[in-house]
Amino acid sequence: MKKLLLGAALAALSTGATAQTIGFSQIGSESGWRAAETTVTRNEAEERGIDLRFSDAQQRQENQIAAIRSFVAQGVDAILLAPVVATGWDSVLEEAKEAEIPVVLLDRQVDSSKELYLTAVGSNLVHEGEVAGQWLVDNKPEGECRVVELQGTTGSSPAIDRATGFRNAIEGADNIEIVRSQTGDFTRSGGKEVMESFLQAEGGGDNICALYAHNDDMALGAIQAIKEAGIDPGDDILIVSIDAVPDIFKAMAEGDANATVELTPNMAGPAFEALASYMESGTEPPKFIQTDSTLYTQDDDPMAEFEKRKDLGY
Ligand code: AHR
Repeated sequence: MKKLLLGAALAALSTGATAQTIGFSQIGSESGWRAAETTVTRNEAEERGIDLRFSDAQQRQENQIAAIRSFVAQGVDAILLAPVVATGWDSVLEEAKEAEIPVVLLDRQVDSSKELYLTAVGSNLVHEGEVAGQWLVDNKPEGECRVVELQGTTGSSPAIDRATGFRNAIEGADNIEIVRSQTGDFTRSGGKEVMESFLQAEGGGDNICALYAHNDDMALGAIQAIKEAGIDPGDDILIVSIDAVPDIFKAMAEGDANATVELTPNMAGPAFEALASYMESGTEPPKFIQTDSTLYTQDDDPMAEFEKRKDLGY
């Protein structure tokens, strides 16, 4: 019944008659990418005449669970969830399912049964790590390469999968070893702080060949730490990361960063489309709607890429 009502609401949207209400439980604003995803989601909702109810969880799963319960109590038509960590969602997703409110996951995955959500929009997070690792395999200097790794938020699917993917890529390669790995929580300040501790523990940067950061913001913080230590990022220490935010392209143009793997901030567009066709036709979308993972390097006209991203919500 709920599905039919939402179908009617979506059909009415084209005539401008009734606004559809969708709750969005966002993780927070830890990175430039996250802020862009929020902007894009608001814009995509506005363009479609959707009444978007936004909740900022400030990195706390309990806030997200409370937000979902509140959306269910409000009787929203659907829920978008960007889950901060992968585990611990079963009960609240069951509550949404019981209330016949479809949930769409954005950009991160959960360990729950696929029955508990309609679809997930995101990249192949393992593949992202593999693309970053392969770039290093192909571009590392001769000889031994000691890598330091800045991981994302502990327990989040991108932190788990990007670590796995990178290791898959370097596994068979000669002379590449991850010597230090720690979370920087996907933040610029976390990246800087942890990189400082890596440099100190390594007695400076001479023994570090490359930094792999699970997102650009941590890489940008680390670049600052490396410069402050009198070392040349992008040259003495190679920098590869993930997201493709505008600032990393500036860093690439200046020679301070080497490569990034793009994660589009537009997860909401495909999510709203999947919801609309589900409600209108009654057919289930695929359980995973995959976005691209394109590699960009210093050879890809970084300033042009920087300019392009102004239209992407950054
Ligand atoms: O889940 C996607 C990741 O979350 C982005 O790569 C990172 O910047 C964000 O914090």
